[in-house]
Amino acid sequence: MKIAILGFGTVGKGIYDIIERKDTKDTAQLEVAHIFIRKGKEKTLPIMIDDYEAILQDPSCSCIVEVMGGIEPAHRYIMKALTAGKHVVTANKAVVAAHYKEFMETAAANHVQFRFEASCAGGIPWIHSLLQAKRIDTIKEISGIFNGTSNYIIDQMVKKQLDFSVALKQAQDAGYAEADPSADIDGIDTANKAVISASLAFDIVCTRDFPINGIRHLQKRDLDHFLQMGYSLRLMMIARSKADRYACVVEPMLIEKNSLEANVPDNYNLASLTGDSSGTLKFYGQGAGSLPTGSAIIADLIAIAHGELRDEVTMMEKSFDPSLLSGDYILRQSDTYETYKDMDPMQMHALYHDVLAKDPSALLVRIGKRGE
Ligand code: HSE
Repeated sequence: MKIAILGFGTVGKGIYDIIERKDTKDTAQLEVAHIFIRKGKEKTLPIMIDDYEAILQDPSCSCIVEVMGGIEPAHRYIMKALTAGKHVVTANKAVVAAHYKEFMETAAANHVQFRFEASCAGGIPWIHSLLQAKRIDTIKEISGIFNGTSNYIIDQMVKKQLDFSVALKQAQDAGYAEADPSADIDGIDTANKAVISASLAFDIVCTRDFPINGIRHLQKRDLDHFLQMGYSLRLMMIARSKADRYACVVEPMLIEKNSLEANVPDNYNLASLTGDSSGTLKFYGQGAGSLPTGSAIIADLIAIAHGELRDEVTMMEKSFDPSLLSGDYILRQSDTYETYKDMDPMQMHALYHDVLAKDPSALLVRIGKRGE
């Protein structure tokens, strides 16, 4: 199957390398026909091209791989590819989270596939596992660590006693961070993955207007303080569904230091789902980086090459009810740590934003319950 790759950054290069290695009979059947680069950029390979229309008009190229990142022009290019009757595979969580419904409907109308395994949890086959689990159970809850950069930063702050900024620079050098790493440390990247995962898990169109809080204000002294209380800290996503309601949050969370989540190192992710029959299932692997993310793209390409179809997803109306995720919090302001019990996350985040206006370094963390 001939493909075109849009964007030749960290992930684009990983995809190209895996295909060129031809390690398996399946990867050997993939051929990169075009690599689309921006006008004016140096063409370092003969297959590089800056004319997108020419790619769309190549009838031998049946699949577009979008790994440019960002919303535009990625959204425009994906829509053009789908309406031109080409399958689309993407790792771009920001654009999938923003245009999920439009992409799914356009792909269905044009009888092509829109796949985005690489958009959530890097190399972990999370989307595949979620869809598989949905065949058996109504999914009641999903949660986990979905940002490699934040996890790497926290892990390095604890294990190597690095400052936040040094650990962030290392994550950027390793190719884990977004072009603007604010998306990683402010929880936006995790939130995009939460939107995609919750939409699929609960058959809804989840939007990114739930409480989101990142690790920007985290200091080494906080991690020491929480460790003395018996907790590790991780940036977590939790989404829950009950009848016609759902809730979702992205927050730094305190978890028992012996739990699986507390021991997730480096750029790794841990994604969990809970169903009535399966109980809680946990999926672990590298959540960021060139080859892990590239491998998830390749998995989608091979599925398309094999003619495998994804299960149809429905998009029901469910109302957002943050009280489904009420919980306990610790707020650090002016050097004191104060506990708040059984708080609605919307109310707790509103209170935190008021506090931030007075103390811009204040930190809010959720206290995880056993099983969260
Ligand atoms: N910046 C993202 C992360 C890349 O650190 O997880 C993978 O989505």
